[in-house]
Amino acid sequence: MALLIQNGTVVTADSTLAADVLVDGGVIREVRALDSVARIDPVGHEVVDARGLLVLPGGVDAHTHLDMPFGGTYSSDDFETGTRAAAIGGTTTIVDFAIQSRGMKMRTALDTWWGKAEGKACIDYGLHMIITDLGASGLEDMDSMVGEGVASFKLFMAYPGVLMVDDATIFRALRQTAKNGALVCMHAENGSVIDVLVQEALAEGKRAPVYHALTRPTVAEAEAVQRAIAMAEMAGALVYIVHLSSEDALNQVREARDRGLPAFAETCPQYLLLSLEDQMPGKSFEEAKYVFTPPLRKKANQQKLWDGLKHDHLQVVSTDHCPFCFADQKALGRDDFSKIPNGGPGIENRMQLIYHHGVNAGRLSLNRFVEITATAPARIFGMYPKKGTIAAGSEADLVLWDPEAEHTISAATHHMRVDYSMFEGFRVRGNARRVYSRGELIVDGGEFVGRVGRGKYLRRDARGR
Ligand code: URP
Ligand code: ZN
Ligand code: ZN
Repeated sequence: MALLIQNGTVVTADSTLAADVLVDGGVIREVRALDSVARIDPVGHEVVDARGLLVLPGGVDAHTHLDMPFGGTYSSDDFETGTRAAAIGGTTTIVDFAIQSRGMKMRTALDTWWGKAEGKACIDYGLHMIITDLGASGLEDMDSMVGEGVASFKLFMAYPGVLMVDDATIFRALRQTAKNGALVCMHAENGSVIDVLVQEALAEGKRAPVYHALTRPTVAEAEAVQRAIAMAEMAGALVYIVHLSSEDALNQVREARDRGLPAFAETCPQYLLLSLEDQMPGKSFEEAKYVFTPPLRKKANQQKLWDGLKHDHLQVVSTDHCPFCFADQKALGRDDFSKIPNGGPGIENRMQLIYHHGVNAGRLSLNRFVEITATAPARIFGMYPKKGTIAAGSEADLVLWDPEAEHTISAATHHMRVDYSMFEGFRVRGNARRVYSRGELIVDGGEFVGRVGRGKYLRRDARGR
């Protein structure tokens, strides 16, 4: 039976329309304005009344780390718990990261991550490939990954000895994407400089979590962003800066875009809403909850990032969801901040936080909210218009969003498998009431009602394919 969502306000990146939406076979068949001469005939359809609700495209979170090995442990959400929490928060697509370890074929990494997601994912998922080593066949491997729908690669300019690659590797990878249409995502921080600062801090007995942040200056981020963009320019390639956190780094992206370069960047709710002053005063080990990279920055950066989102100097808000439990995982670094697993949880709260602090606060229009949380990531990562919009022919990933629903974020009630919330006690107005994935109701009133394992792998398009 087809589904007819009546009387809602349908919001896309470029329009807001009182309309009915007809869904059949998992696909949107028609969006018809309420003031049309005739309404869509409801006979024979399951009818849902969305009066007073916004009908949004399902959120697309292009940066998550589920079941990821890091710092001697694994991120605490797997593809089941993480994607369920995502769905409850109104996200219907994620792009996670497979990791090619040194000497490993990318194919092996892809098989491993498919194995992690198979039978567990509750929403549709794509995969980026993290490259740690190009070896003899790495460039051909990149092409074969593109053939498997892995249309983006992440490279690290930080974490020496673990994930960091040299500039030659970055340049070669960028040049390959200029040919095969894929996109390089860059973790841009100068890892070599940071390593010196970390070793010095430890030698001086500075071991508390706050030193994680104090040994990663914004200039180390800005320098790497500038270098990444310069290498992309020389390679004739696009580049996407992940988890951008500071005004200094943003300035580099803005200048490049002003010159017409195809440089893109995302930021994350933690950089928009949390700060060094508020979360990391340097008083206790509790601050390990906020150890991720890049680190929290001084508060003055926040408004610059919001402005960057408004003016399209930043294109996307993703979460960089990479949860580690405080009690037994963050605790690995109790006596040494450099051993605290890096990452924080957020997959469930992105839409609520950006809606409340963006739209309700008057910083973002409703359409820009949709664009940065769904449409732009779908476009940039080769999933549009299948995902990220509401139009005839698109997959019916839809959120019935209650703009008046009040919610207090807390680890006591969230669905992520992690024992704390970075946004504990944050009150938000606006929340997902119902969530559909390919036309199937998967969340109703804050509860997941879908089938675990129903999520499908998304073969994403490279540019020009
Ligand atoms: O601290 C972070 N961001 N952990 C996840 C890995 C990464 O660099 O994105
Ligand atoms: Zn990163
Ligand atoms: Zn990440």
